[in-house]
Amino acid sequence: FAVDVQKVGSGIQPDMYGVFFEDINFGADGGLYAELIKNRSFDFHQPFVGWTPFGDVQVMDESPCFDRNPNYVRLNEKGLRRGTGLENVGFTGIGFKQNDNYNFSFFARSLTENEMTFKVILVSAENENIGNAEIQVSGKEWKKYSAQIKATATSAKGKLRLILQTAGEVDLDHISLFPAETWKNRENGLRKDLVEALYELNPGVFRFPGGCIIEGNTLETRYQWKNSVGPVENRPLNENRWNYTFDYRFFPDYYQTYGLGFYEFFLLSEDLGAEPLPVISCGLACQYESEECVAVGDLQPYIDDAVDLVEFANGPVNSKWGKVRAEMGHPEPFNLKYLAVGNEQWGEGYVERLIPFMEALNKKYPEIKIIGTAGPTPDGEKFDYLWPKMKELKVDLVDEHYYRSPEWFLDNAERYDSYDRNGPKVFAGEFASHHKSRNNNMRAAISEAAFMTGLERNADVVQLATYAPLFAHVDAWQWKPDMIWFDNFSVVRTPNYFVQKMYANNAGTNVLSITMDGVNITGQDSLYASAVIDKNSSEVIVKIVNAGDKVHDLTVDLKGLKVTAENQKVEVSYLHNNVPEAINTLEAPNTIVPGQFSLTASDKGFSLKALGNAFYVCKLKIL
Ligand code: AHR
Repeated sequence: FAVDVQKVGSGIQPDMYGVFFEDINFGADGGLYAELIKNRSFDFHQPFVGWTPFGDVQVMDESPCFDRNPNYVRLNEKGLRRGTGLENVGFTGIGFKQNDNYNFSFFARSLTENEMTFKVILVSAENENIGNAEIQVSGKEWKKYSAQIKATATSAKGKLRLILQTAGEVDLDHISLFPAETWKNRENGLRKDLVEALYELNPGVFRFPGGCIIEGNTLETRYQWKNSVGPVENRPLNENRWNYTFDYRFFPDYYQTYGLGFYEFFLLSEDLGAEPLPVISCGLACQYESEECVAVGDLQPYIDDAVDLVEFANGPVNSKWGKVRAEMGHPEPFNLKYLAVGNEQWGEGYVERLIPFMEALNKKYPEIKIIGTAGPTPDGEKFDYLWPKMKELKVDLVDEHYYRSPEWFLDNAERYDSYDRNGPKVFAGEFASHHKSRNNNMRAAISEAAFMTGLERNADVVQLATYAPLFAHVDAWQWKPDMIWFDNFSVVRTPNYFVQKMYANNAGTNVLSITMDGVNITGQDSLYASAVIDKNSSEVIVKIVNAGDKVHDLTVDLKGLKVTAENQKVEVSYLHNNVPEAINTLEAPNTIVPGQFSLTASDKGFSLKALGNAFYVCKLKIL
C-alpha cells in the first residue's frame, strides 16, 4: 500500500460520523429515557395497560391535573382492609439494584377531609418487599408528592406497588419512578449506562427523533416537536408508529410519553459534543402505511413548526420559542445548523411539499442547512427520480438510506467515487449491513468497515454518516440489527458499534490518498483501505479492512513522511474474529471487542499482518 502524506486532500467534516436516534425497539420509553413506570398518566388507549389495579380504582378525566393528559385514577378505600391500590410492571419488569435509590413521585388530591396514607413498595420478582416509603396526602388541590426509596435487594424484573391505607377517596396522576442516578443526575433524566455508550462513540452529529416515527402511521400520530417541550407531565401522549412492524407484529403497549423530547434531545447532543440534526414532518404520513397527506396549500402549520423549531433552538430568550427553551433551563442557543425536512419520503408528493418548506426556511434562516431525501433505497426508480430533483432544488445534503446485505456493502466501497462534486452533499443517514441472520455479527460489521473506507475517501461528497437503528431492548424489539442492545441492567456493544467508534474517534481532518499498484483499494483480494491526516493531533491514520479469510502480509509505504526514533511507533487498534457469525450477547458481551498493539515503522513505512475478518486503525505521529 502507498500513502502519500504530502498530498493532503479534501477536508473531512468534523461532525462526519454520528448517531441516529429513533424511538424504535423501546429505545426511548423503556430505554434511554430513565422513567421506570409504563403508562404513568393512564392515557394509553387502554388506560390500565402496564397497571394491575386492585380494590376500587376507576379511571377519571373530569377536572384533570393535566389538560393534555386528562386521565387519572380515583382510589376508593372502604376501610374493609381488602386493599385498594395499583401495581405497575414497568417496561418488561422494573430493574432494581441493591442499595440504589429510586425517586418516586405522584400528583394527588384527596376527596376526604382527613390525611390519607399511601404505602409505596418496590416489589421483587419473587413478590418480596425490597424497599418502601409512606406518603401522606391531604387537601383538595392537586399537589406533587415524592419520596426516595432505597432497594434492599436486586431484582431484574420487579414492579412497583401502591396501597391506599386510609379509608376514603384519593385521585392520583403521573405516577413516576426514576433511578436517582441518571446521566449527569438530571431530573427527568436519561439512563446513564446508555448515554455513556453514546459518549464513548464520540459522535459528531445526532439525528433525531426518527425515522418513520416523525411521519406517523397517520398524520395525527406524526411526531410534533411542540408537544414534546414544556412541563413533562403535560406533554400529550402519542402512539408510536412502531406499535406494529412491517410484518404486522403488534405492540399495543408502545407509546411515546415525549418525556425524552426535543429539549432533551438538544441537551443530549450538546453533552455528546454532537451537532443536533432534527427531522420534521413534511406533511406526508409514513408512505409504507398510508397515502394520507396534507394538501400543499394547507402546509402552513407544518412549515411554521419547522421555522419555529429553529427559533426554539437558536432564538433569543425574548423570542416566543427561545423563551420556552430558556424557561426549560437553557437560555444559551443550541446552535442548530442542520434541519431535515421529511424522513424517507418518495415521489412527486415529497418534492412539491419540500419546496414551500425550503422557501420559508431559506428566507428566514438562510444559514440553516436543509436536508432532503433520496427515499428508502440506494437505487431504483424512487432514488433515480429524487436525486436530480434534490439537485434542482439545491438542498444542502441528500439523505440516503441503505439496509443491504454484507455483499452489497463490500461491492459499494466505490459508490461515491463517481458522485458529482458540484451537487448537494451526501448524508448517509441510515445504514446497516443486514446479514441473512439479521444479527449484529462480525461479517456485517466488517462489511460496514469496508464500505466506510469509501465514505472516508469521498469525504468531500459524503459529509455525514449515521448507522441505524441505534438501540434495542433484548425483550422488546421490532427491528434488527441494531447498534446497541440492552436489558434493564446491562448494555451490549455490538461489533458494529465498535466499527463506528473506531471511525468516529479516528476521523482525521483531511483525506490522504492510499493506493495499491496505483489504484484505490476497494476490494482487491478482499482488502479495503483509506487514510487521513489529523492536523490537530499531527497524526497519519490508516484504516485497513481484510474482509476475506486469508491472512495478508501488507506493507504500508508512507511517502513523504520522515520517520525517526521519535515517531516510529505505530499504534494499532483492531477488531477481529475468525467466525463471521460471531456476536456479542448479554451473557458474553466481550466476545468481539477492539484490541491494541503497536508496530515499529522504518523510513519506508510499516508492515502489518492483516488477519482475515479484521479491521485495523493504524496511527503514527508526524513530527
Ligand atoms: O431505522 C428503521 C427505519 O428504517 C426508519 O424508521 C426508517 O426511516 C427506515 O425505513
